[in-house]
Parts: sequence; C-alpha cells; structure tokens
Amino acid sequence: MTQELVALAETLARAAGRLVHDGRPDRVDVAATKSSPIDVVTAMDLASEALLREMLAEHRPDDGVLGEEEGYVPGTTGLTWVLDPIDGTVNYLYGIPAYAISVAVVAGEPDPQEWTAVAGCVQSVSDGRTYTAGRGLGARLDGRRLQINAAPDLATSLVGTGFGYVAQRRRAQARIVAEVLPQVRDIRRIGSAALDLCSIASGGLDLYYERGLNPWDLAAGGLVAQEAGAVLTGLDGRKADAEMTVAGPAGTVAELVEILERMGAASDE
Ligand code: IPD
Repeated sequence: MTQELVALAETLARAAGRLVHDGRPDRVDVAATKSSPIDVVTAMDLASEALLREMLAEHRPDDGVLGEEEGYVPGTTGLTWVLDPIDGTVNYLYGIPAYAISVAVVAGEPDPQEWTAVAGCVQSVSDGRTYTAGRGLGARLDGRRLQINAAPDLATSLVGTGFGYVAQRRRAQARIVAEVLPQVRDIRRIGSAALDLCSIASGGLDLYYERGLNPWDLAAGGLVAQEAGAVLTGLDGRKADAEMTVAGPAGTVAELVEILERMGAASDE
C-alpha cells in the first residue's frame, strides 16, 4: 500500500512538474498576493494545484486534500494529500532554478502535530530531480537510496534556513540568524523549504531550520529527510511544524535546538 502511494505521489508530482516546466512564460505575472505584498501566487500555482486535484479525483476520490491555494477538502479514508503546487514561488517568478512540486499523503488529521506522513514526492522542476520517500521504505533521489551526511560539528555544518513574508517575523528571524551564523560553516537560503529538506537527505545541506512552514512546505520533504536518517523536530519537545522545524543529524540538531530555544526562536517577539 505505502509503495503504491509513493508511486502515485511521484506520478502526480512529475505531471505537475512537466506542466510548470513547459508552461513557464518568459515573464511570469503575479496573479494574487496573500499574507503580504511579497507573498505571491502566480497563474501557474493555481494551474498546477488544479491538475493535482483533478488527478487525485480520478485516482483517490475518497481521500482528503489540503492544498496551498485551494484549501482543505476532507475525505472519508483517513488519508489526506498535502499539496504544494509550486514550492519556491518567488524563485519561479524570477527564473531562479530552485522550485519544486511537493506531494505527500498523511494519515490522521492534516496537521503536522497530529499526522503520520506515509509517502511523498518532491519534484525539482528545473533539473528534473525526483525525491521520493515511503514510511519505512527509505528515501530516494531518482531511484538511488539517500543517506544524510555523517554528522559534522556544528561549526562545520552548512545550514539552510528561510524567512517568512511578514515584517515582524523577519525582524525576529534576522535576530536568530545573527546568532547562528557565527557558529556554523555558512547559511544558505535556497527559497524552497521542500528542496531544503531534500538537500538534508541528499547531503546538500547538513542542517536546516525555519519558523513559519506551512503543512504543504513540510509534509513530503520532511518524510524524505527522515527516511534518509535525519531527525525532524520542533522546539521544547514539539514535533516540527509552523512554530519551528529543525532537521539534520541527531547530535547537531540537539546543539542547534539548544541555541534556538535559548534565543526564543519559536516566537516573533
Ligand atoms: C515558501 C518557500 C520558502 C520558505 C517559505 C515558504 P512558497 O513556500 O518554501 O523557502 O522560506 O516559508 O512559504 O510560498 O514558495 O510555496
């Protein structure tokens, strides 16, 4: 069953990936804005989610669907598909080649504190890389089994992070980055949380933390990271979610969590 769900997640993510790749105009227009004027939606975000929902209606009509653009429609099976039709929309807007389709299926309530992620696929659109994971089945990049980097010291860790779209959160995030940056190898802001989490799995980053992730940013990439051997956690004993998500090898995650908790990083104050 899990393997079939992984296969379907991959079919969906690849189809949306082709749509987004082939349909990208030379100049992308903003269709709408959300939490702030810099939190944008393009026509392709909407088209990609519509395609994913159509395919799910055909293949799994009784499952729930939670998508970034169209919201939540409950199902009757206990499974919910969690969709990010373009993760890294600002990169897509500017033609920076780091954006992805994220498709996951979770059991239980579609809330990261409650769910168990079962299967997921992150399709990196520009380079055609396909990350997949099934709970208990491992994580793969284009079919090749993934394993996180052997734990380096915090001081030699390359750390990914991201920023929200609202000024008060950004001020708080800037304060945290100023504390973390002198203690690590360097910081990367790739611009797609799903690809950040997959980079933990494939060895492209050693550690990742971000406050403010939505369920669709986290669901598939979080499972890929975990199935490659990463710890995925929040602060103060919570699971990873919008409050805080940290991923990487257990030892350096514990060191980073200690810094983030001491700095009060799970708040925008
Ligand atoms: C965003 C990206 C970004 C992260 C933001 C997300 P979107 O998703 O994943 O890297 O820093 O928190 O909202 O808006 O491009 O789907």
